[in-house]
Amino acid sequence: METAIEVRNLVVERGKRRVLHGLTCSIPRGSVTGLLGPSGSGKTTLMRAIVGVQIVKSGVVTVLGEPAGTPRLRHKIGYLTQSPSVYADLTVRENARYFASLYKGITPADADNAVEMVGLGDAANQLVATLSGGQRARASLACTLVSRPEVLILDEPTVGQDPVLRDELWHQFRAMAAAGTTLLVSSHVMDEASRCDRLLLIREGALIADDTPDLVRASAGTNDLDAAFLHLIRTMEKTGVAS
Ligand SMILES: Nc1ncnc2c1ncn2[C@@H]1O[C@H](COP(=O)(O)OP(=O)(O)O)[C@@H](O)[C@H]1O
Ligand SMILES: [Mg+2]
Repeated sequence: METAIEVRNLVVERGKRRVLHGLTCSIPRGSVTGLLGPSGSGKTTLMRAIVGVQIVKSGVVTVLGEPAGTPRLRHKIGYLTQSPSVYADLTVRENARYFASLYKGITPADADNAVEMVGLGDAANQLVATLSGGQRARASLACTLVSRPEVLILDEPTVGQDPVLRDELWHQFRAMAAAGTTLLVSSHVMDEASRCDRLLLIREGALIADDTPDLVRASAGTNDLDAAFLHLIRTMEKTGVAS
């Protein structure tokens, strides 16, 4: 399968601490890859490096064959930051239309479509300031989706969403991947892992698994991904290598 994102020996330091310790992985095109790991494990930092907004100590990050952060990639990558980045004094629709106006060929109708996609059709005319946390996160997601980027980096997009909405959002992610979009989706809840084509399990800035959900389960000898994650951590702690 064609590779969309290639990360080689990535080392990142934030403050005085090393937070990524020579991480290597590749993410296939047209798939949903889950980036899973506990809080503080380095998920956001890895995503920032892929988007090209993180200063890196060493290593190589390539997106669609170009070095991460080059201006040519700007319109090809969509990044949903972990905390929503939308204008509180604009309505949901106005936010989406504003982002649409930044891209050639993207219309107000595309913006309205993105608002529908994230389930905010009924709240389209509501000021963002008056939305719940979960709705605000979806408004931010709508703005990321508006330009239909080839690569989507989504940092915990389903946090704070009710189960029905989470299910709907995952259906959207699957549909986008089926249409050729590459998605990297972080989460700290394991039950989302089974929705992914591939999983990157990260802990303390190091990768402990890079496989399909089935193979992660099989290599740990359990059907439960939470248990599999624990098993992989314990194996690593004993042997220093992932099983
Ligand atoms: N701006 C920052 N300055 C210094 N350290 C940071 C900064 N942001 C994150 N860190 C540290 O980097 C590590 C990885 O953080 P992060 O990538 O946000 O993890 P995750 O997204 O998995 O929760 C954590 O130990 C965190 O405390
Ligand atoms: Mg994070």
